[in-house]
Amino acid sequence: MPETPAKSFFITTPIYYVTAAPHIGSAYTTTAADVLARWHRHRGENVYFLTGTDEHGQKVMRTAQKNGQSPQEFVDSLIETEWKPAWDLLDIKYDRFIRTTDEDHVRQVQEFWQRLYDAGYVYEGEYSGMYCVDCEEFKSDDDLDADGNCLVHERPAEMITEKNWFFKLSEFGDKLLALYDEVPDFIAPQTSRNEIINYVKSGLHDLSISRSSFDWGIQVPWDSSQVLYVWIDALLNYTSAAKIFDDPAEFAKIWPATHLMSRDILRFHSVIWPAMLMAAGQQPPRRVYVHGYLLVGGKKMAKSNATAIHPREIVGTFGTDAYRYYFMKAIPFGSDASFSWEHLHAVYTDELANNLGNLASRVAAMIGKYFDGELAKPGALSDADGTLADLLVRTVRTADVAISNMQVHEAISATHDFVTAVNGYITEQQPWSVAKDDSALARERLATILYTCAESLRAVAVLHHSVMPSTATKLWESLGAHESVGPLDAQTIASAADWGVLKPGSKVVKGEVLFPRIEADAEAGA
Ligand code: MSP
Repeated sequence: MPETPAKSFFITTPIYYVTAAPHIGSAYTTTAADVLARWHRHRGENVYFLTGTDEHGQKVMRTAQKNGQSPQEFVDSLIETEWKPAWDLLDIKYDRFIRTTDEDHVRQVQEFWQRLYDAGYVYEGEYSGMYCVDCEEFKSDDDLDADGNCLVHERPAEMITEKNWFFKLSEFGDKLLALYDEVPDFIAPQTSRNEIINYVKSGLHDLSISRSSFDWGIQVPWDSSQVLYVWIDALLNYTSAAKIFDDPAEFAKIWPATHLMSRDILRFHSVIWPAMLMAAGQQPPRRVYVHGYLLVGGKKMAKSNATAIHPREIVGTFGTDAYRYYFMKAIPFGSDASFSWEHLHAVYTDELANNLGNLASRVAAMIGKYFDGELAKPGALSDADGTLADLLVRTVRTADVAISNMQVHEAISATHDFVTAVNGYITEQQPWSVAKDDSALARERLATILYTCAESLRAVAVLHHSVMPSTATKLWESLGAHESVGPLDAQTIASAADWGVLKPGSKVVKGEVLFPRIEADAEAGA
């Protein structure tokens, strides 16, 4: 029988403006995409996780000029000094880091627009309007305040009049509404979906897709005097990486993608992007998922209002895994939230150091003390043991469904609640009291209790691996699971729910403390 191909999961982040150094806002989307990608890999799916940088446009050109560098030199240095180190620091395991200056992207973008031009979707016209260079977007009156400032960046928009090429976006209103109707979760959450439906219903205008006043961009293939508008170049990064023209068979295997972002760029992704794909006769994305803003002082945290915090300020004190856990669990995915050091410290202490860290070290210490570090063979399960094993099955199901619904925080919460239940089980079962009795029956009961704890931790390592890769690996090693069960990477989410996976005889060692205590006043640099 032919093998059924593994299900594909293609997840993307926006490609960030290369000039804005990484901050906890861009890191939020990237970490979420990484957790989702890792989880889907643990399901055994064929995963492709794409992130990268948006490197063309007027903003990049002006900043490079200010720095006294050519745009290419400037962007090259930012990738090496800023972007890749930030994602390495956060343990982001992308399959590709795409740059819009990459040769394969440039070539496939030109081919895409040439095809749309040949098919009659592009025409020449003149455009006059207010343009925000920070958004790289033309603005309507509704997008500006009374003084002509862009509402997003609170800076003046500029009047631009140019002869440009236009894309017939206005022809796609009905087709887009039909798509939102046929695929109800195409835009999520619901508030974002409603907003876009209303926007499209109010009527779409054709889109200016080229600029002639500067040349830092991809040349319009049929008109060397113009470069493509930075957004319609950037949006195509997703299909370039998937090799839309370079390898159509590969593209067909992995497309369509799930796009993560915040609402600032939702219209581009849920209106312009699917319309471009429809015009090219391609399948629209699978889903556009909008998460909330990280706020500072009630406003979206951003470099442009000097509120950006770099992840290293937090990682330096709390470590990469706690960083990932905090942002992914403590902030409901989809809601706006303010970052606070106090909250981070409380979550670190209660959930990581006290709940998970303590559990791991107690269990290893007891197996060390009572069984010389060897996992003893369990006897028959008592009701309490069985209840924990049943809870594990429900936990895995809850977490896995939450991931399918993009509720990352719920998935992590389910595992955290399970850890709490295992701690409760130890308190109730009092293995230290059972250990006082030397009878064969009591020894067997002690073995069963500690096996139940170790087996629970084995499942926790698999479930937390996507969010805390190094902690889960340390836990896996300390349980002797690598020798007993195999590499952590090879474990499936489904197998996390199985009971009796760890083999009796496994060597359990009390490894290093997973989450060392951190003083309450320890903050960045403090
Ligand atoms: N270059 C465009 C995207 C092109 S994609 C084809 C762009 N870049 S950006 O650097 O401004 O990134 C915006 C995205 O960064 C948001 O949609 C969100 O994913 C993330 N975030 C930036 N600031 C954020 C917060 N304060 N909070 C949450 N996410 C944030 O737009």
